[in-house]
Amino acid sequence: MFPVPFLPLLLLPLLLGPGSAAAAPAVTARTLAPCYSADLRPAVGSLLSAVGCTVLLTVPVQRGSGTVLWEYRAGSEEGVILSYAFPQPPSVSPLYEHRATFNESTLSLQVLLQQGDDGSFYRLRTQEETTAWFRLHVLEPLSPPRIEGSSLVKAGGNTKLVCHVLDGKADAFWWKKNGEPLLESDRIQVVRNTTLYILRVSISDSGYYTCAVRNAVSHNETSFLLKVHHSANVVLPVVLACVIIGMLAGVFVWWQRKEDSCDNCW
Ligand SMILES: *[C@@H]1O[C@H](CO)[C@@H](O)[C@H](O)[C@H]1NC(C)=O
Ligand SMILES: *[C@@H]1O[C@H](CO)[C@@H](O)[C@H](O)[C@H]1NC(C)=O
Ligand SMILES: *[C@@H]1O[C@H](CO)[C@@H](O)[C@H](O)[C@H]1NC(C)=O
Repeated sequence: MFPVPFLPLLLLPLLLGPGSAAAAPAVTARTLAPCYSADLRPAVGSLLSAVGCTVLLTVPVQRGSGTVLWEYRAGSEEGVILSYAFPQPPSVSPLYEHRATFNESTLSLQVLLQQGDDGSFYRLRTQEETTAWFRLHVLEPLSPPRIEGSSLVKAGGNTKLVCHVLDGKADAFWWKKNGEPLLESDRIQVVRNTTLYILRVSISDSGYYTCAVRNAVSHNETSFLLKVHHSANVVLPVVLACVIIGMLAGVFVWWQRKEDSCDNCW
């Protein structure tokens, strides 16, 4: 029906990028909800999704019958995900056994993504035609980061909080204090986005500090309660001593006045 010219056939491997599907029917894919904060819009050519999410790969309505194959390519490895020939049930390769679901009426394929799927390619092949390869980029969603630092800090000292991403890779970090964007100053500085320095800490620096992280498919955050206290071990005895000395002085003055006033008595 669509005769493929001979010359473009030789160029086909060069043309298999996104948007070059003129020579072959294109696979369209989208991420199914829920999937962290991944983009759920359908894409042609390639799709960015996340580990633990499910991707639905669809193809234009196919003519004819015979065997239908969903194939994958990962690195130098190439193979069959499943083969289907009506009226037999689809036969799924052991590699995809518990994570691929085939729809016999639409020939679409659902794949539950796992760690090693980043950079893998998929295509559908029938006796009549073969689709272009569809590429999946699979990122790890971000878990809550870990904040390292001391939660109890003396007024007047310096302190720092360091935000660590445990799973996945963050594209952006930012800090909040008590839920509001943190304002940097000469005392409060963020270095390399992950480390928050607070110099000459004061009581008003007490509060909840949140490290928020984001990548293309997810975001997450962790809060840390920072408490600032006065250097009580020094201040309290000094205050107590002043109060006691003051009281003694007061008593002494009162006693002297009383003596004086009694001198006048006589
Ligand atoms: C196959 O896809 C059609 C159309 O989207 C849908 O109505 C049907 O429920 C699907 N079948 C299965 C087994 O998922
Ligand atoms: C934050 O991480 C937890 C644990 O990994 C996850 O369950 C949660 O969905 C994440 N939050 C967001 C907003 O993605
Ligand atoms: C770090 O912060 C700078 C300035 O705010 C920003 O341009 C950059 O993208 C951030 N980098 C990361 C990894 O968050």
